[in-house]
Amino acid sequence: MKILAIETSCDETAICILEATGELPEPHFKVLGNSLLSQIHIHQDYGGVYPMLAKREHIKNLPVLLEKILEEAGGMEGVDVIAVTAGPGLEPALWTGIEFAKDLGEKWKKPVLPVNHMHGHMFSFLFEPSELVKFPALALLVSGGHTEIVLMKSFKDYEIIGKTRDDAVGEAFDKVARLLDLPYPGGPKISALADMHRQKGLASEIIFPRPMINTDDFDFSYSGLKTSVLYTIKKLGVLNEEKKEEIAHAFEDAAIEVLIEKTKRALDKFGASTLIVGGGVSANRYLQERLRGLALELALDLRLPPPALTTDNAIMIGIGAYVAILNHPKILGTTREITAQGNLGI
Ligand code: KG4
Ligand code: ZN
Repeated sequence: MKILAIETSCDETAICILEATGELPEPHFKVLGNSLLSQIHIHQDYGGVYPMLAKREHIKNLPVLLEKILEEAGGMEGVDVIAVTAGPGLEPALWTGIEFAKDLGEKWKKPVLPVNHMHGHMFSFLFEPSELVKFPALALLVSGGHTEIVLMKSFKDYEIIGKTRDDAVGEAFDKVARLLDLPYPGGPKISALADMHRQKGLASEIIFPRPMINTDDFDFSYSGLKTSVLYTIKKLGVLNEEKKEEIAHAFEDAAIEVLIEKTKRALDKFGASTLIVGGGVSANRYLQERLRGLALELALDLRLPPPALTTDNAIMIGIGAYVAILNHPKILGTTREITAQGNLGI
């Protein structure tokens, strides 16, 4: 089956044509055409994503990307379905993708399927062929808008068992970066500074709190951590490069330790031996190092997405669509009104 997938939930405009074959648990994917335009440079002046600007850019980018992937894939011949992110995300941005998908669906007489962005992150590990997943499995989803632990009993039976009560972990990276005068998105920059400080092997006097690390649940809270960083910066006054590295290091240690501890406890409680990870923060080098350590310690089957599929992209939306089609084959024949759902749950 050929899926044309569209992603416009935030600041990445992305379209791909994916050839999907096989059944769950071992589907196979081949990318026939893929294009992504990041708007990061446009939003950097605002220190974050500005929804109406994102909408304007998506409208401008979508036709350009479509032409490019159709050229790569040799036309729309054989495309069976158009998949589009319906939420969660920024509603003005989501609508641009949805309207574009609907227009294409009408023009080409193809069904249009709404896809949950978080399902895209959760199933992007399937892009790499590997061993069968043993259930129950846990999925740790860490992005700019979400921090969730999902208990997966099968590919179609899953529920959130813990999530952030305020800021998402990626959002905390972005906010701390802003406090350190680093450009948006902050994750990769904080990570690079933290690594520099780690490599120098210097002792640090700064220790930030690990919010909710000992609570008897799988929830998270990142806004207090960001506030602690703010107070420390205020107290220190002018920061030189080395101090910024030290703060980034101390922040990253705190943010990641909570993720690891809560995940470890959830794995234990639910008897899960497979850990799936997804979302932009899963690109973080230190998080990956800690996850690999955890996998060794607990003999875990750790499933990370390939690096190019950690942050937002259209391939993951195609994968999410294929999983939904395999789980519920009838959805292709069902017509539905697709709306943007900014707060769509999993
Ligand atoms: O999944 P994603 O592309 O978009 C959302 O669905 O939100 O995630 C973007 C988030 C941003 O907050 C960004 O700072 C963070 O992922 N991120 C990272 C890294 N790369 C991206 N955070 C920490 N370390 C990284 N290397
Ligand atoms: Zn995302």
